[in-house]
Amino acid sequence: MEIRVQKEPDDGDALAVPVLESRASPAVEQRLSELVDPDRVRRLGDAYLVHVAEAEGGRDVVVVGLGKADELDSDAVRTAAAAATRQLHRSGSRLAWPLDGQLSVALEEQARAVVDGVLLGSYDPGSWKSEGKEVEPPQRLVLLTDEPSLEPGAERAARVAEWANRARDLANAPPNELTPERLAARAAEIAAGAAHLSAEALDPGRIEELGMGAFAAVARASHNPARLIVMRYEPPQAKGDVVLGLVGKAITFDSGGISLKPAQGMDEMKGDMAGGAAVVESMGAIAELGLPLRVLAVVAASENMIGGHAYRPGDIVRAMNGKTIEITNTDAEGRLVLADALAYAREQGATHVLDLATLTGAMQIALGDLYAGVFANDDRWLADVLAAGTASGDHLWPFPLHRRYRRYVDSSFADMKNSSDLRQGSPALAAEFLKEFVGEGPWAHIDMAGPGFLSRSRGDYLWQRGGTGYGVRLIVELARRLTEPAA
Ligand code: BES
Ligand code: MN
Ligand code: ZN
Repeated sequence: MEIRVQKEPDDGDALAVPVLESRASPAVEQRLSELVDPDRVRRLGDAYLVHVAEAEGGRDVVVVGLGKADELDSDAVRTAAAAATRQLHRSGSRLAWPLDGQLSVALEEQARAVVDGVLLGSYDPGSWKSEGKEVEPPQRLVLLTDEPSLEPGAERAARVAEWANRARDLANAPPNELTPERLAARAAEIAAGAAHLSAEALDPGRIEELGMGAFAAVARASHNPARLIVMRYEPPQAKGDVVLGLVGKAITFDSGGISLKPAQGMDEMKGDMAGGAAVVESMGAIAELGLPLRVLAVVAASENMIGGHAYRPGDIVRAMNGKTIEITNTDAEGRLVLADALAYAREQGATHVLDLATLTGAMQIALGDLYAGVFANDDRWLADVLAAGTASGDHLWPFPLHRRYRRYVDSSFADMKNSSDLRQGSPALAAEFLKEFVGEGPWAHIDMAGPGFLSRSRGDYLWQRGGTGYGVRLIVELARRLTEPAA
């Protein structure tokens, strides 16, 4: 989608008319009531498409509700923009959106939120339907303002949202298509199209050779071989010593293994690679934007299956860093693949590590579909990650790491076990488990089980079921902030 920043719409642009629930000036109210019943378009996300007569300019107008003034925030703007876009189902449509200096959301944020809403809100998850698309993004979006300085930010937001939509494609792809090998091929495809970005994929032989016994155990039962996807972005303009290490869980299908999951909802476990998808696609975004910092991505891609070669409850495996793990539940596979991926990322030189994973059902229960939970071993790094979450629209809430949780994963036989028999605190003890593998230096862990893959519409700009692209906007924002510490 093309972005323009200009003062007036062009002929043929559909004009958005965002309205707050509170009344506008009498003149505006008068004009509005000539178009639609104003009371039917004031609630957030209400949108009506009308065509104004040729005598009055002859254009499509989408009147869209912004909701209550005191509840207005970036997400509300995203939701309104998404609702407006869905009214323009004609392909090749063009939307002009007036930014408004009177609103409580700063112009720069408004611009970014409109772009997000339009692009994320026009994503169609039904690629496998035979009958074509139900929604499509407009061909171009015109932001109406007399601030030309808003253009680069809006342009960047568009690029990032497009990468987020590609991450959604991966999460929505069925597990018979999106195997670990296919995800690795996608990483290679991204690297081939970008400057200073490389991708390699380690096969099960290499994974064993590197001593990644935890990752290898999860992968054992599968006929689709695992891949450790490693991407490196090394731009010549990189500043400083920071190497951002992005680690992703990419279980392309999580059956639970021998600790089999119930049938209900198991189809959604195709989305258990959403963290890894966000990492892979955000590398494309970072390279496309040419951000001046080094980034290392390590994505552990595997199925978690059952079969004669499957790892079992009771098995003891040794991770790459030498620590031994008693398997007590084969459905706690995410922390096993992450254990080796985290150790590898640190070994390969990552200074600041962030992992993203759909790790625990309990996190989804705790925070629902809007917020992911974040754990960190370093307060500054936590603050950076939280700030990037807030600014990007990928919401985060901090959770505690505490050494007293460590005893939940004490094993009678090995250095630790992969799950507790207590149901308490499972996201926190998963984080304690991961902490054993992160080595020295700042690390943050995002458990995105809730917002990573939606079982039902969220009713906002992410109204579609399935993958959300959670993490792409956050990662790019974080990377950008690392390159300009003053921001
Ligand atoms: N992939 C799941 C977590 C999950 C559940 C993500 C629901 C999204 C929605 C993970 O591998 C898992 O099965 N976790 C178990 C861990 C338990 C066995 C310790 C869980 O949370 O129940
Ligand atoms: Mn599982
Ligand atoms: Zn899983």
